[in-house]
Amino acid sequence: MSTSPIHDFLTKYADSGTVRCHMPGHKGKENPADITEISGADSLFESDNGGGIIEQSERNAARIFRSYKTLYSCGGSTLAINAMLALAKLNSGKSEVIAPRYSHRAFISSCIHLGLSPVWVYPDEFLSAKVSAENIERLITPNTAAVFITSIDYYGGMCDIEPIARVCKRHGVPLLIDNAHGAYLAFCSGGLHPLRRGAAMCADSAHKTLPVLTGGAYLHIADKKFAPDAKEAMSIFGSSSPSYLILDSLDKFNALYMSDPDIIERVCGMLDMLKAALKAKGVPLYDSDRMRVTLDSLSAGSSGISTAEILRQNGIECEYADAARCVLLFGAYTTAEDIKRVYEVLTSRDIFPKATGVSALKFARVEKALDPREAFYLPKELIDINKAVGRICAGITAPCPPGVPLIMPGEIISAEAVRQLRALGVKYIQVLL
Ligand SMILES: Cc1ncc(COP(=O)(O)O)c(C=O)c1O
Repeated sequence: MSTSPIHDFLTKYADSGTVRCHMPGHKGKENPADITEISGADSLFESDNGGGIIEQSERNAARIFRSYKTLYSCGGSTLAINAMLALAKLNSGKSEVIAPRYSHRAFISSCIHLGLSPVWVYPDEFLSAKVSAENIERLITPNTAAVFITSIDYYGGMCDIEPIARVCKRHGVPLLIDNAHGAYLAFCSGGLHPLRRGAAMCADSAHKTLPVLTGGAYLHIADKKFAPDAKEAMSIFGSSSPSYLILDSLDKFNALYMSDPDIIERVCGMLDMLKAALKAKGVPLYDSDRMRVTLDSLSAGSSGISTAEILRQNGIECEYADAARCVLLFGAYTTAEDIKRVYEVLTSRDIFPKATGVSALKFARVEKALDPREAFYLPKELIDINKAVGRICAGITAPCPPGVPLIMPGEIISAEAVRQLRALGVKYIQVLL
């Protein structure tokens, strides 16, 4: 069987000289690989058991990730998260989902779409993936549909998934992992991919850490009971015209990995050495996963935003920076020259200029008045953030990155929440009338 059935088909079609009396309207002139579900191609949400090119390619992906089943998404992890939560609700008939407070906005939109109630676990730190099995277990009730954990977090922190998976198993609750930042974990040493740690399902953005076009992602299924309805669950949220350019890109990664299984470990090895060299030079690093270098600017008396600005002036653009940290994200195509350049800039410039009055964000606990779905569909207005204390939040205010809402629809906006939102540059917020 081909290692790149989608790519093979697209190449053959582009070379065939066929007159394209079908969508899309650019007739292959924008990009010859951009097709739709023509004869011989496949339809993303109907591809199961037909033996077509998408099914073959998804099977290749399942093989390299070692999942029971893998589905492609052309709508990022967002679509995979929507589908994963729909499957949890469909299989349990229940409506509560236990999740860390710093979940991505994709989780909240799923709650709005599906009428799920989030039950929050509060990690100690802003954006942190680190939640404990004990804290999760305390919150499990007979109405728990799933536990939903984000790991890797935006700073590169990781959750110890295995003990949480054991708790979930004991209570018969599926563990769903938002692994948007960790698709690459399947291809390097350490066995840290959520599928190896006991997750029932996980959503991986291929485009964040693998050489895949933006929008390419996977829904991986380990627990067989979720497989039969998975395509249907994806289809209720996804476009009926998924991008073949993204499918092609996902397909090509399977072939690339099969022909060069060290491709990810090689770059992780170079990054391990970079981090060791930076530490030896006294550069303060946050303890991140292997694909990131997270500069702990706050501990050096500076701010992550100032560090990012200096890097920019020196030809390095970071993935994310906030008051505390600056995150550099690498990938399979990062070269030894790129890493050398990063090392030179980080060690030869003052990347931590003194900053005063900087503190790390930490979100205060807020009171809930309504579930996100109820609040989202009630009449609302947009008001000045300075006038929002005491009002009920009605929308998702989540500057991106990291796309993590500090206040959710249905919550009462506190003075502390206003302070934090202003610190993130938010000027207006939607509230209930
Ligand atoms: C933790 C987390 N989950 C989910 C998403 C959504 O991923 P995607 O952009 O692939 O839809 C993101 C995006 O940044 C994210 O950071």
